[in-house]
Amino acid sequence: MIRFSENFSLKSYNTFGLEAKARFFFEFTEPEDLPYFLANFPDWEKLPLLLLGGGSNLLFVGDFEGLVLHANVPGIKQVREDRNHVWLEVGAGENWDRFVGYCVHNWYGGIENLSLIPGNVGSAPVQNIGAYGVEVGDYIDTVKGFDLKTFEGYEIAGSECQFAYRDSIFKNQLKDRFVVTSVVFRLDKFIEYKLDYGDLRAEVEKRGGEKIHYVRDAVVAIRESKLPDPEKVGNAGSFFKNPVIEQDLADKLKSEFPAMPVYSAGEGKTKLAAGWLIDQCGWKGYRDGDAGVHSQQALVLVNYGLATGQEIYQLAMKIKDSVQDRFGVELEPEVNFIGC
Ligand code: EPU
Repeated sequence: MIRFSENFSLKSYNTFGLEAKARFFFEFTEPEDLPYFLANFPDWEKLPLLLLGGGSNLLFVGDFEGLVLHANVPGIKQVREDRNHVWLEVGAGENWDRFVGYCVHNWYGGIENLSLIPGNVGSAPVQNIGAYGVEVGDYIDTVKGFDLKTFEGYEIAGSECQFAYRDSIFKNQLKDRFVVTSVVFRLDKFIEYKLDYGDLRAEVEKRGGEKIHYVRDAVVAIRESKLPDPEKVGNAGSFFKNPVIEQDLADKLKSEFPAMPVYSAGEGKTKLAAGWLIDQCGWKGYRDGDAGVHSQQALVLVNYGLATGQEIYQLAMKIKDSVQDRFGVELEPEVNFIGC
């Protein structure tokens, strides 16, 4: 299936639920359709490009005056198996949480802590999605896609993807150049549970102990208690990254604010909880018109209905400034701003 439209509404393609139009929009379900389309639409090289997955990490501040490419490739298929692992190739257009559910149902371990993260499979490696002590990069064998520069299909080994905290080669050297069409995951048959984050272990024990579906149920319950469902209230998960700062500054802040959560982030570096910093500045539950800050998690900005991208953006800038003024820490957005 292919779809090509002009002045296409992206409202149902971004989890903030913002009204924004794409000048051109191309959606495809077969990887082979992309080069044929581009060859027949030579103007694409002059236009700004947006590679759109599930739209769970975007803020449309205005319309997008360029070409949106949406790889909606379906399918989950087993491509290899050995004593310890199973390899699954999954189309970029598959819903992320549906795929996690499939793995849990089949007892394929590794990504159960990543339950209920919004978005599609194709975006998972780009953002290196993570939650509750697990990052998806650790379970990615290969990323397959199309390189718009060389005009060829291309495969990148997980070990070459430069996975780091909410970061990968696809956000850097290969930005706006590599269209992910499928991802091969290597999952564990002998599951090593990772339950040390927050109250996850207690929630799993409550349900009956270390079993893959109890882990999924616990993660879902924790997320549902803290994070708004984008189907009901527009949002893009954490709006900012947790800032990684120099140890010296962290020590100074910790002596001033002993309750501040700190996490070790390698040699001489400390990671802070952006949600805590924002919360301390009094933003939790704030609302101005339909733009607001979630009442259970200050790191999540929400659209209560009719907020514009501009309004969410303005609110985000005010939050960033107040954290800078109070703590001297710069917050970096996790969401991408489009159309500004
Ligand atoms: N906190 C507050 N007030 C708040 C929010 C948080 O005091 O309003 C404190 C919490 O009490 C806790 C600390 O800040 O001590 C961290 O909070 P939490 O465990 O909720 O996690 P987070 O650091 O805010 C990160 C990810 C989430 C992921 C959770 C669980 C980032 C930017 N966010 O949030 O990912 O689900 O950990 O692993 O790394 C996402 O990326 O969209 C996302 C939701």
